Amino acid sequence: MANRPRVVLSYAQSLDGRIATRTGASRWISGDETLELAHRLRADHDAILVGIGTVLRDDPELTCRLGECASPTRVILDADLRTPPRARVFNRIAEVPTIVVCSETARHNAPERAHALVEAGAEIVPVAADTEDRLELRAVLDAVAARRLSSVFVEGGSRVITAFYRERLVDRAYVVVAPILIGVGIDAVGDLGVDELTDAHRPKVVSVTPYGKDLVWELAFRDEEDRR
Ligand SMILES: NC(=O)c1ccc[n+]([C@@H]2O[C@H](COP(=O)([O-])OP(=O)(O)OC[C@H]3O[C@@H](n4cnc5c(N)ncnc54)[C@H](OP(=O)(O)O)[C@@H]3O)[C@@H](O)[C@H]2O)c1
Repeated sequence: MANRPRVVLSYAQSLDGRIATRTGASRWISGDETLELAHRLRADHDAILVGIGTVLRDDPELTCRLGECASPTRVILDADLRTPPRARVFNRIAEVPTIVVCSETARHNAPERAHALVEAGAEIVPVAADTEDRLELRAVLDAVAARRLSSVFVEGGSRVITAFYRERLVDRAYVVVAPILIGVGIDAVGDLGVDELTDAHRPKVVSVTPYGKDLVWELAFRDEEDRR
């Protein structure tokens, strides 16, 4: 494969590690200062990626809204082509491309759904899926690299964040910790298969910066030159 794109994760979690309540509400866990940081970070990347769960729950536009900043290409992980053609990820489609990555099976078996998304302006990109119908993240990153996009800003949600960590595909993360408690809710990070503490992920802490009442942890998971 061509050089794999740089993968940067970003999410806002409560003190007790949730990215949403039990009903899926996540707006807004972090304060205004960190929301501005999130938009600035979007503008620094070639692509912004979320899972279909986030599209269906939040209907985000996924553009950079800081005045004069360029918006990255939008990438949705959507094995079964469930993205609604009227979703806000197709807003401003003439200027900001949207790629819907699906399974090869769905591309073959659901031509009408694919057609509706193409009509909405999407590029449909089929990739291999595993036995649980999860898209192979390395194949997703290959497809991104093939479009000359060299960095991907992954904004969630929980399953997608977990999958990138589990596959050890994360280069850097910006974890916003907001001083609120949610209790039962959606975990920021699910099962990473860690049984022993020696297997825990231990990134290098690049910085810990207060933004208003939030703390932003910038974490490096690998040296830039090892990225492949
Ligand atoms: N606080 C924050 O920063 C933040 C940010 C974003 C989202 N959120 C919240 O997170 C929640 C959504 O999280 P979620 O876990 O339900 O959904 P998600 O992570 O956005 O999307 C998960 C879906 O993506 C698809 N997918 C395809 N390939 C995958 C792969 N390799 N690994 C993982 N997923 C893959 C799967 O659906 P298919 O099988 O249909 O493809 C999967 O169910 C919402 O409540 C949202 O508000 C919070």
